Amino acid sequence: MSFSPVVNPVVDFSEYQDEAGQYALTKNVMDNGYCVIKNCDNFKDSVFEIASKIAVPQSTMYGFTQEIKTEPTPRNIAFSGIYLGPHMDFPYYESPPGISFMLCRRNDESVEGGESILIDAFEVAEEIRRCSPEDFKVLCEVPVRYQKIHWDRDDPVYMEWEQPHIVVDSEGTITRINWGPAFEGKSKNDSMTAEYLKAYRLFLQKVNESPTKTVRKLEAGECLVFNNRRMLHGRNEFELNGGTRLLELAFLNICEFRSRAQVLEITQGDGELVKMIGNQNTI
Ligand SMILES: [Fe+2]
Repeated sequence: MSFSPVVNPVVDFSEYQDEAGQYALTKNVMDNGYCVIKNCDNFKDSVFEIASKIAVPQSTMYGFTQEIKTEPTPRNIAFSGIYLGPHMDFPYYESPPGISFMLCRRNDESVEGGESILIDAFEVAEEIRRCSPEDFKVLCEVPVRYQKIHWDRDDPVYMEWEQPHIVVDSEGTITRINWGPAFEGKSKNDSMTAEYLKAYRLFLQKVNESPTKTVRKLEAGECLVFNNRRMLHGRNEFELNGGTRLLELAFLNICEFRSRAQVLEITQGDGELVKMIGNQNTI
């Protein structure tokens, strides 16, 4: 099942209070990789309560919630106004957060740009398998280092994880994608060959050309919910022009999301098996 940029998956916050609305969300995330909840409660940490409707949120190195607000001297590119290319969050975790809840707390009218971008990485990988099997093979075989080494914070972090960009099971089904260019480090082995760089550039090109690309400017009170193990997200550059742009994030573990989505499929839907989850498994 692939993502279609034609659809516009939206659930209203009032519908999302009961199981039918929660199922509409999990179904959209399974089918399209994302969904938007409109008219959400909009205050500090309300994103935690919004995510809690599906499962207990998981903490990350930033805590249970994380604010993304532009800073004059940003210590993280997310806190600047520059373009953020499509990526996954926390690729340096063995088990990165599965579902991202990105609540737009403020996005003033004066703010120019900053539209959110989503791309289906599973579809990108399938396109590479179709058009260039040799590059697909390289992307499945070469281990890549992802890292977050940051001493200049109250609790220094030293995280590393190594895996190929595309992970397949014994039958060749894609079960996981790892893609976070800003978090790539130097691998221990000498894997940065010409073949790897060619395949890497093709993945980058296919990401940027992907027909699954959707672009949306979030409004205050909208919560963009997407599968961080499947969908790459990014952001166009922006100018504040004296205004404020503030997002707040919370995350769910992928297996807990899958469990709740499967329960809702059985109790609210037709019992279809939840798929394209990206949890390194296809059962
Ligand atoms: Fe991100």
